[in-house]
Amino acid sequence: MSDLRGNTIIGLGLASLLLVMGLRIAGEDVFRTPEPAKAGYDIDISAVSTGAGGGAPKAEEGPVDWGTVLKDPALVAQGQQVSAKCQSCHNFAKDGPNMTGPNLYGVVGRMAATHPGFNYSPALKAAAKPWSYDALNTWLTNPQKDVQGTMMTFVGLKNQADRNAMIAYLRSLSDSPAPLPPPLPPKPAASSAAPAASSGAPPASSAAPAKP
Ligand code: HEC
Repeated sequence: MSDLRGNTIIGLGLASLLLVMGLRIAGEDVFRTPEPAKAGYDIDISAVSTGAGGGAPKAEEGPVDWGTVLKDPALVAQGQQVSAKCQSCHNFAKDGPNMTGPNLYGVVGRMAATHPGFNYSPALKAAAKPWSYDALNTWLTNPQKDVQGTMMTFVGLKNQADRNAMIAYLRSLSDSPAPLPPPLPPKPAASSAAPAASSGAPPASSAAPAKP
């Protein structure tokens, strides 16, 4: 009798053990995650730009907002790095020498081809333009296309970010850096432009009262 009881207890114990093992095996099946086809994460870096020098050149839409762009104080140091591409031909120091190209201290706002002691090409002399931010932007994109016949044999800075930085650096090389233009107004969405204009400005007729 006591033997039989003992067997029953052992039997029940074995049964519950089997039950637990069975549940575990079943559970593993339920919670198993499918193997990934490719190991690791898929990270799309095509849209990531590395800043100066990296990334694809962006198609520029409209004029550059110099008043906003050139306010970034970090640009000057970035531009100094970009200027490594110019230093085989240009010196940037105040009262520095002319080299293959003219000294570039204070070039922003200066008339083109007017730095003393440099023998400019007839083409650049004929351009007769002041080096505004826009003029420098066009020139640095592709000098040979901007002024055909120039002696500056440099392919250009193809990246807008590089040109922005370069122009900020050139601007800083001055006893009194050229003023920044006011920031361009934000482009309003076409639909909201009309009501904003009509509510902001007084109607034209109120300015000049109609005479009988
Ligand atoms: C291979 C030599 C060379 C390199 C590199 C070069 N330049 Fe020049 N640069 C010249 C020469 C030469 C001229 C004069 C062009 C002329 O008279 O037609 C010039 C003229 C200029 C002018 C007009 C100056 C003035 O007094 O009117 C600017 C601005 C200028 N370079 C900026 C740059 C910048 C910024 C870089 C680098 C991103 C650069 N250049 C790289 C040779 C070079």
